[in-house]
Amino acid sequence: MLLVKIATRNRYTNDTSLGAYNFAFQSARKHNGEIYMSLSGHVAFVTGASQGIGRACAVKLAARGATVAVAARNQEKLNELVREIETIGGKGATFPLDVTDEEQIKSAIKSAIAQFEKIDILVNNAGVTRDQLIMRMKRADWDAVLQTNLTSAYLCTQAVSSSMLKQRWGRIINIASVFGQMGQAGQANYSASKAGLIGFTMAVARELGSRNITCNAIAPGFIETAMTEVLGEEFKQNAAKQIPLGRVGTVEDVANAVAFLASDEASYITGHVLNVNGGMLMG
Ligand SMILES: NC(=O)c1ccc[n+]([C@@H]2O[C@H](COP(=O)([O-])OP(=O)(O)OC[C@H]3O[C@@H](n4cnc5c(N)ncnc54)[C@H](OP(=O)(O)O)[C@@H]3O)[C@@H](O)[C@H]2O)c1
Repeated sequence: MLLVKIATRNRYTNDTSLGAYNFAFQSARKHNGEIYMSLSGHVAFVTGASQGIGRACAVKLAARGATVAVAARNQEKLNELVREIETIGGKGATFPLDVTDEEQIKSAIKSAIAQFEKIDILVNNAGVTRDQLIMRMKRADWDAVLQTNLTSAYLCTQAVSSSMLKQRWGRIINIASVFGQMGQAGQANYSASKAGLIGFTMAVARELGSRNITCNAIAPGFIETAMTEVLGEEFKQNAAKQIPLGRVGTVEDVANAVAFLASDEASYITGHVLNVNGGMLMG
């Protein structure tokens, strides 16, 4: 099945409503008053935060107490996101960047560290699709997807690693995909980038583990965002029928997994690929 190229647009689902995030903040507390999964005192840097999964992750991390540096190309959407983070009592700042530009990555991360003194949670989430059958896939579309989805993760990880090493604490979370695990026709570039991200995750986990830095990947299945919206309602309903949990995923489903992997409760988990796919792929 050929997935077509998706024109991204701002999309704001009920799952990212203020009410949902206020609930997320509440849910960071146990009934007896003990706080768990708190990210208070931590600084997170989230790429691709202007919409979709990245946006939900940024708000969720802020709701759990982290200061969040939000990065993407669309400055207006980032501003709006920081306003929302502040509305729920969180702290955030915008770092506009194009992740295909090495200098912009270095400079944005340098600025974030200068402003917040450290980055100890990195979410490599920025991603694109440029779908085409392999016979027709243009080199430019291969390169764009690999650069945005994979090379950017290498560059961001490298740029934050000295901050994490210095404090001997870090969380690197890479947003991969179920198609990096099983492949998808029409998405050789995308599947390769996500499979590469999974290998990258395991290598970094081995390298940085002795310094108390974990590196994990999340492999979402079909999540309702601008990236999948173009596939249409019929496609979505058919996809849901193939999913054991009987529904497509929400950005909240992914953000919950990110918040968990960023927390102290996940301190003995590294090099793992966490499926957030409703059972679409198991094992
Ligand atoms: N939706 C799904 O079903 C699904 C499933 C598995 C994995 N994923 C992965 O989840 C991640 C987020 O996807 P999504 O569904 O939330 O997609 P989305 O709504 O299209 O969001 C993509 C985000 O990436 C940013 N981005 C793209 N190119 C960029 C660049 N060159 N520089 C900086 N930022 C860039 C976009 O921001 P700007 O345009 O403002 O730069 C946007 O914030 C991606 O890595 C995707 O592969 C999604």
